[in-house]
Amino acid sequence: MFAAALRTKVVSRAFTSRAVDGFTGAVGNTPLIHLKKWSEKTGCNIVGKAEFQNPGGSVKDRAALGVVRDAEERGLLRPGGTVVEGTAGNTGIGLAHVCRAKGYRCVIFMPNTQSQEKIDLLRMLGAEVFPVPAVAYENPANYNHQARDFATKLPNAVWTDQFDNTANAKAHYLSTGPEIWEQTNGELDAFICATGTGGTLAGTGKYLKEKSKGKTQVWLADPPGSVLHSYIESGGKLKDRSGGSITEGIGQGRITNNLGTFVKELDGSLTIPDEKSVAMVYDLLDTEGIYIGASSALNVVAAVELAKLLGPGKTIATILCDGAYRYQSRLFSKAWLKAKGLEDAIPEHLKKYAVLN
Ligand SMILES: Cc1ncc(COP(=O)(O)O)c(C=O)c1O
Repeated sequence: MFAAALRTKVVSRAFTSRAVDGFTGAVGNTPLIHLKKWSEKTGCNIVGKAEFQNPGGSVKDRAALGVVRDAEERGLLRPGGTVVEGTAGNTGIGLAHVCRAKGYRCVIFMPNTQSQEKIDLLRMLGAEVFPVPAVAYENPANYNHQARDFATKLPNAVWTDQFDNTANAKAHYLSTGPEIWEQTNGELDAFICATGTGGTLAGTGKYLKEKSKGKTQVWLADPPGSVLHSYIESGGKLKDRSGGSITEGIGQGRITNNLGTFVKELDGSLTIPDEKSVAMVYDLLDTEGIYIGASSALNVVAAVELAKLLGPGKTIATILCDGAYRYQSRLFSKAWLKAKGLEDAIPEHLKKYAVLN
């Protein structure tokens, strides 16, 4: 009996001494995963930052915490205040968690084309959700503008403005960048990832460039339907958006303030077709046991292609943004893949993973 009591005491003391401070303390410090098969195939070290291990399940937990902390530090958000954002995805989830942990009200505006699943999840996490008509950014009724207007009318409320508020990139400059540098012992030849707001690429890239004194190359990866690849290739010409991608959370029609802080320092960009991203979702599941979404898979394809360009012996890092759980009803559905013309993208021996009809 005494021995059991002693065991409990020791366990609980050890736990306390290693405990982090709540949800917010658990954001970041994710593992860097060496991807064996693709490292062997390229003769490089391909490593992925396991951002799906953040407590809210994605890389956007860092940005959510960063923009809320920034608003607190600038005195825009005080106890009992309201956080408002326009988002259809992971940022809303991150913000909903952070707001519960810090006692703020969380209000999310999103296009009414989003799935009921996404709306339900945000509401389960305590956020108030306003689905509004899906109109272009130029239209004042766009969900981002509605979020801004809602916050302006309330006292002690902030529109966190994930696309143009550079506190987003700063969060990655202060955490993701230093973590990757430390986890690769400062021997990092290149970093590549896709962008939505641009926060991850700009903040992480800026830190790595500075710390390596320019030796670490930083590249952008782009899905179809985004204008960033052609912007970089053409030396700064912004064309109209056309086409689309099955990836979610990435691709952009403009240079956001976050990307703008770093875009001139980029070493290059690669565009990755959906066929390759979807095939990589299945490949990483089969070869590494890693279950990640399409934006993460696109990042790994891009890292592999960059490895081929740079040649053997290099270490190349990328971001594993979130898990496949949020997309499984699509990515692992035979009917959905067929409707998108992607069923043949999956090699025959991996088709067994598409278990949903
Ligand atoms: C799944 C996923 N991947 C990648 C990104 C892109 O990250 P960032 O907004 O930092 O460019 C996002 C952003 O929402 C995302 O949800």
